Amino acid sequence: MVTSPMQVGVIGHPIGQSLSPLLHTRWIKAFDLDAVYTAIDGKDPETFRHIVKDCLAKGWKGLNVTIPFKADALAMADHVTPRAKAIGAVNLLIFRGGKIYGDNTDAAGFQDALTASKWAMTLPSARVLGAGGAAPAILTALKDMGFTDISLTNRTLERAENVAHRIGGVTPLAWEDRDQGLEAIGVVVNTTSLGMVGQPPLDFSLNGLPETSAVIDIITTPLQTMLLQTAEERAHFTMKGLPMLVYQAIPSFEAWFGLKPADGEDAVAFLTREKTASP
Ligand code: ATR
Repeated sequence: MVTSPMQVGVIGHPIGQSLSPLLHTRWIKAFDLDAVYTAIDGKDPETFRHIVKDCLAKGWKGLNVTIPFKADALAMADHVTPRAKAIGAVNLLIFRGGKIYGDNTDAAGFQDALTASKWAMTLPSARVLGAGGAAPAILTALKDMGFTDISLTNRTLERAENVAHRIGGVTPLAWEDRDQGLEAIGVVVNTTSLGMVGQPPLDFSLNGLPETSAVIDIITTPLQTMLLQTAEERAHFTMKGLPMLVYQAIPSFEAWFGLKPADGEDAVAFLTREKTASP
């Protein structure tokens, strides 16, 4: 079935703050496509599944999936890529021939964002904070990038142990020790919700971290977290959450439309302007 205009979108809960419609609509316009990208509130897992099946039946091209339905998307897809299975989450659904294909572009998004930033790795050790939903993709990306010594620290140690075991090649670390031994660390990544609007600040000292090391916070609200502020004052290379958002979106757009946006850095600047105008 061919629908006109072509329909795609993002489904999550809550979804009001999503920047994905702005981003994909920018690309739809740039490629002059007859397509619409819609943000959908999935409400709960049952409603989520109902909406996905409905979109499939109506001839949509696919959906991005965000918090909290990435595991539900993995469970309901007919075919799942090995990388999505390994990460344990699906953020991209492609509808083709009446079937649902699931993939994960978060790890590639993180890696591509860092590659585009031109930051060069100096030490192959990484410290990841937080073992929640975002951690498996980040850990997978760091491994793919050649980090050989990755420590994962989380308030609930058991959760860090479980994720570390599942991903492999990752060492769990007690939360009390989160800022210990930074002298040997090449990149620090915050994947906790600490520092996000409405959440407590992240209590983390960067003392000892080599100046050539990078500090990354995947939070997008606010754009500039206290962690990044402190890192910039110490002259570290920093990366905010928006580049990862943009670079995980590029393969989604390409999977649906067969066209690859090549304006990654401009798209990051565009979203930064939009978010600064209405935070
Ligand atoms: P979910 O728990 O649903 O996966 P998330 O936003 O993906 O939610 O993850 C939240 C992350 O922030 C977790 O690593 C969480 O630690 P726990 O696993 O111990 O819950 C971390 N986090 C949230 N509040 C925190 C706090 N006050 N102190 C330390 N870590 C916190």
